[in-house]
Amino acid sequence: HTHLLGIEQLNPFDITALLDLAESYVELNRKSVKHSEALRGLTQINMFFENSTRTQASFELAGKRLGADVMNMSMQASSIKKGETLIDTAMTLNAMHPDLLVVRHPHSGAVDLLAQKVNCAVLNAGDGKHEHPTQALLDALTIRRAKGRLQRLNIAICGDIAHSRVARSNILLLGKMENRIRLIGPPTLLPSAFAEFGVEVYQDMKEGLQDVDVVMMLRLQKERMDGGFIPSEREYYHRYGLDAEKLAVAKPDAIVMHPGPMNRGVEIDGEIADDINRSVIQEQVEMGVAVRMAAMDLLARNLRAKRETGVMA
Ligand code: CP
Repeated sequence: HTHLLGIEQLNPFDITALLDLAESYVELNRKSVKHSEALRGLTQINMFFENSTRTQASFELAGKRLGADVMNMSMQASSIKKGETLIDTAMTLNAMHPDLLVVRHPHSGAVDLLAQKVNCAVLNAGDGKHEHPTQALLDALTIRRAKGRLQRLNIAICGDIAHSRVARSNILLLGKMENRIRLIGPPTLLPSAFAEFGVEVYQDMKEGLQDVDVVMMLRLQKERMDGGFIPSEREYYHRYGLDAEKLAVAKPDAIVMHPGPMNRGVEIDGEIADDINRSVIQEQVEMGVAVRMAAMDLLARNLRAKRETGVMA
């Protein structure tokens, strides 16, 4: 692959190879700060047009641990604010010959468009409601480590699915790896075309969570509900917030996940989020660095090979 734009483009072999490489980075990350020179001599530019804590920090750390020169563009202070278009901004940066461009953008499809215009490897760090591939990959690595496998699991994805690129990428990835997926949420927050994903749909948490191995909670994304129905937080927590009573119907060893940022007391009870026997939320963050290292390592190998054969300038 030239770019990492979405899970849609990956097959189960690609996914397993990337997770295996990421796994090799996990232990090394615990031991030392910098342990590989896989990206030495390469320039990585991070362009985040939407807020981020986890994704931006982990892409920066991942690049530095592999020896890249990493630059974080401050998009708030960029010429975008003077009316420059996304494509003109990208072409300007492209003229400085970056090797890896990490992009988050509020519009679905913006990152794909940009990838067609530049001659470096582009990684999608989240585009609108479309995809967030490295999030799904880090979730997959977290599940595989906790459950010992990434197949034949019952996985519930709960809450605001309609607005969630995290849900979309996870549904694609977990489906490709042959898991059974349940979507649980109010009808207003479920995607209209869920049948195409081959998933089961529930509107009641206690029905949907019966005997699941994995409970994946999502943030209520009010910023994407432009003009639409916004549920009251109290009512939402009562019906869809994960608390001890609802979690009790899942398997006794079911793990609890959340991509962050979390709204405690809205989609998840704070005590459950902090329960180290159930919650793997901090492990998800840790896996994020390893997965982003693996993704950039693999793309850089392809980039170098293509440049040697003259395919990519
Ligand atoms: N999960 C996630 O993408 O978090 P950030 O928005 O903080 O990067």
